Amino acid sequence: MNVAILISGSGSNMLSLIDDMTGSHPGRVRLVLSNTPKAAGISKAIARGITAKVVDYQTYKPNISAFESELQNQLEAHKIDLICLAGFLHILGSNFIAAWEGRILNIHPSLLPKYKGLDTHQRAIDAKDDKAGCTVHEVVNELDSGPILAQGYVNILRNDDALSLASRVLVQEHLLYPKVVRDFIHNISTKNSQ
Ligand code: GRF
Repeated sequence: MNVAILISGSGSNMLSLIDDMTGSHPGRVRLVLSNTPKAAGISKAIARGITAKVVDYQTYKPNISAFESELQNQLEAHKIDLICLAGFLHILGSNFIAAWEGRILNIHPSLLPKYKGLDTHQRAIDAKDDKAGCTVHEVVNELDSGPILAQGYVNILRNDDALSLASRVLVQEHLLYPKVVRDFIHNISTKNSQ
């Protein structure tokens, strides 16, 4: 199964997915797409021999549909079957999501449905939660609201700030996302072979 990973930043989740999809794993990362040339993950993907393309939102805005059409062109050109969002900071439009629903996943750094959107760790600390974590979910039209596939948990420590909590949650993300994607692809492959 051909997988594309969409990024906007460092790509640490991208790397854990690339490094997991080897050997007997039924998926392979065939494409990394970034919405900005500034993403540090681009060079990391190229260093691993993965095709990486920048579809720079700044050169398309305010024409969001033209931007998302180019994303779609790249995905079709590389015969992609599954999209994994990994730190992708563009909120995809309803037409794009409708074309990919059921074949597009995201990892979000909170225990959804709590703390959709940004600044998740500070919000959990401010709410005096005792636990934080990450969620892998299917992407639907409503932000951070699709079917939850799995979650990873960390305790919030008394002296935690947003940075220290984020770094511990990120460790869980790197464990959770590859496991969920492996199971997700295996389930699709099994269904397709029946
Ligand atoms: C991570 O916290 C992830 O949950 C969120 O973006 C952050 C950066 O991810 N979606 P990465 O290091 O670019 O993979």
